[in-house]
Amino acid sequence: MRLDQFVSQSTGIPRSEASGLIRGGRVLVNGVRITKASTHIDPAAEVLLHGERIVLPGNIYLMLHKPAGVISATEDPAHRTVLDLVDHPHRYTLHVVGRLDKDTTGLLLLTNDGDWSHRLMSPRHHVPKTYLATLAESLTEAAAQQLRAGVQLHGEKGLTKPAEVEILPTQQARITIAEGKYHQVKRMLAAVGNRVEALHRERIGGLVLDTELPPGEWRVLQGAELGLL
Ligand code: URA
Repeated sequence: MRLDQFVSQSTGIPRSEASGLIRGGRVLVNGVRITKASTHIDPAAEVLLHGERIVLPGNIYLMLHKPAGVISATEDPAHRTVLDLVDHPHRYTLHVVGRLDKDTTGLLLLTNDGDWSHRLMSPRHHVPKTYLATLAESLTEAAAQQLRAGVQLHGEKGLTKPAEVEILPTQQARITIAEGKYHQVKRMLAAVGNRVEALHRERIGGLVLDTELPPGEWRVLQGAELGLL
């Protein structure tokens, strides 16, 4: 891996800062001073920063209660991102697993384990995601049947895969899909003549958003929770 990446991930400082330290001669790899940030090193090498050994963190898995108004990215020049909400010491190593729209709230996962997030989001694994949608109009049983059977979204090849749909009072519906097309839930509801006014992700696989977690807060996933995914 690149040396600037190693220094950033093991200390939690941004990559640009890590590069500056490397260029400034503060980093030794196996006893040799390296000043080029892009140098590739063995992740098991002995790396010293200011004379202190630094090592890569283990895998990190977090759940965040995403509030509306922040984007599901790790950096953005113009908008507040979900990473701005995560004051974890290794926050710069994290990426988002399965984005939510800016106005969507609810369960969002962050990790530094690329294999895990890839498996979770791969269409081959069909991990179900459950959303609570607040609608412009009450969902009719006929529309719910259409969503269960699959609907044609503009610009997509086939129908959407069968969804689970529960009609709730107060113009809401609980919808579970095992795909992740762009704006999928909103587009599915538009395809049956309705409109999503608010969207909240409640669950991914068997993992439910912690009800004790207020919007904007995060916590580390417990070992057993990883099994639920
Ligand atoms: N479907 C949407 O339309 N938006 C989301 O944020 C997630 C699923």
